[in-house]
Amino acid sequence: MNTTTFSKEEDFIKESVEFIKKIAEENPNAKIALSGGSTPVPIFKELAKLNLEVEFYQVDERYISPTDKDSNKKMIRETLRPQNFKTFDTSLPIEESIKKYAAKLPEQFDLIILGIGSDGHTASLFPDSPEFTESVAHTQTDQFAVKDRLTLTFSTINKSKKLLVLLKGADKQNAISKFPANKLQSHPEITVHFTN
Ligand code: 6PG
Repeated sequence: MNTTTFSKEEDFIKESVEFIKKIAEENPNAKIALSGGSTPVPIFKELAKLNLEVEFYQVDERYISPTDKDSNKKMIRETLRPQNFKTFDTSLPIEESIKKYAAKLPEQFDLIILGIGSDGHTASLFPDSPEFTESVAHTQTDQFAVKDRLTLTFSTINKSKKLLVLLKGADKQNAISKFPANKLQSHPEITVHFTN
């Protein structure tokens, strides 16, 4: 596991953008899955300036309208402004939405960008979430405003060629040692960027 701690947030942003840009330049058909949350926002805003034509996907989504303030799709559309973006359709019943999105997934992602919550969740895989064999799953949480989540599973995450974990804030310093995020540590190509 390759971990870099950046003393300056500007370097955290710059190096994270460079990491993603390099993968997109090496493979214009790269398939990259994007998490939600707040940490990636400044990085996505910088990526928007590159007009990358790679295929972007969602790692997870809150089961709400794409116009809702808590929608990951909304955040990504407003920050990264992806040209090619495959997303969860939360207008469908949960199981149909999962089935439709799973059918869109590539055999293998080139990169999956993840955050970790202070409780150790990553994607929308929580400490009390079941183990899944499927590629995409429905999880629930009573810790956050939106209870129902749609998410890639560890089965899909582990198959990705590379993982980039973005962590910002003192409370995230050891987040990757918390369950279930600690399951990411065994990935052969995991890179962690941390800044306070
Ligand atoms: C979500 C994200 C989630 C996020 C972590 C960290 O839907 O919220 O996909 O997994 O990466 O909760 O979020 P922050 O970056 O806001 O700390």
